[in-house]
Amino acid sequence: MSGMIEARGLVKEYAGGVRAVDGVDFSVAEGEIFGFLGPNGAGKSTTISMITTLSTPTSGSVFVDGIDVARDPGAVRKVIGLVPQDLTSDDDLSGRENMLLQADLYGVPRREAKERADELLEMIQLHDAADRLVDTYSGGMRKRLEVIEGLIHRPKVLFLDEPTLGLDVQTRKIIWDHILDMRREHGMTVFLTTHYLEEADFLCDRIAIIDGGRIKIVGTPDELKTSLGGDKVYIETEGVDDICDALSRLSGVRSASRDGRTYKIDTEDGDRTIRDVLSAAADNDWHVVNASLNHPSLTEVFLEYTGKNVRDQMGDSSKEEVRRQNLQSRRRQK
Ligand SMILES: Nc1ncnc2c1ncn2[C@@H]1O[C@H](COP(=O)(O)OP(=O)(O)O)[C@@H](O)[C@H]1O
Ligand SMILES: [Mg+2]
Repeated sequence: MSGMIEARGLVKEYAGGVRAVDGVDFSVAEGEIFGFLGPNGAGKSTTISMITTLSTPTSGSVFVDGIDVARDPGAVRKVIGLVPQDLTSDDDLSGRENMLLQADLYGVPRREAKERADELLEMIQLHDAADRLVDTYSGGMRKRLEVIEGLIHRPKVLFLDEPTLGLDVQTRKIIWDHILDMRREHGMTVFLTTHYLEEADFLCDRIAIIDGGRIKIVGTPDELKTSLGGDKVYIETEGVDDICDALSRLSGVRSASRDGRTYKIDTEDGDRTIRDVLSAAADNDWHVVNASLNHPSLTEVFLEYTGKNVRDQMGDSSKEEVRRQNLQSRRRQK
């Protein structure tokens, strides 16, 4: 059992026969940032709830830091932090009080808890609001508070379920920078779900794409993109004979095809191919009027493996979150 998280044949069937998680296997190494991506209803939150001891698998097993979650959930809880998808802070307490409550639950000594709370509140720029009731916080402030609540006991593994949904770019950056710091300083392992694929691309060492309760592919962001067949170069020509053969002989080119005046070139290295094509065009008098390069993105990977566009996947809860934030910022402006 080498990984920090080891899931084997994990299944969750809810009453009524919904198989929310349908035989999931994966392994997350210590210190790794592992992204769990998938459309709404894919089974991401259900998987997290089983790993974090909040629900019991129908079958299969999961180990965290070598501890069997089914055997010793109490020991697992001590090494994990969870930032759940739904907001859970107590509205009738201040931000600081929520932090200290959380620290208490994990048995962090008072003095240490106070120091860490201060440090984290400062880091996430909630210091000025620390002693206000959470009831007065905006959606973004609440979300930031939730993230640092999950960190107060310095967990070995942090689970983040859509931690940045509905937050502005700046706030998202603050949160991720801090999480990267924690990883650097404490070797923390991070398991996250997000709808922001660019974030996942930039943050995650490896990503699993899940749909219908099953993992479709696991790999580094680059491996996932390469699985789609790599880069594509498109050129548009004017008045030349078919140049498919010449194009496919260029170094690194896998194939070239033609549709009217447009050629599509599949290649290992798009940057190099586009240079080679333009130089060959100059040598051979091909009249290239347009050239473009497409590096596959995670957006395309997501679409390929789930058949769904991530932009359509902002769930009701996130829309609700955005709406609430907008409403609150409008109220504050008045
Ligand atoms: N408590 C529950 N009871 C019954 N079905 C549930 C429950 N929670 C989630 N589901 C269903 O399980 C599936 C996976 O849900 P979830 O894990 O929340 O997906 P995700 O987090 O990927 O959006 C969905 O079809 C959802 O409706
Ligand atoms: Mg979810």
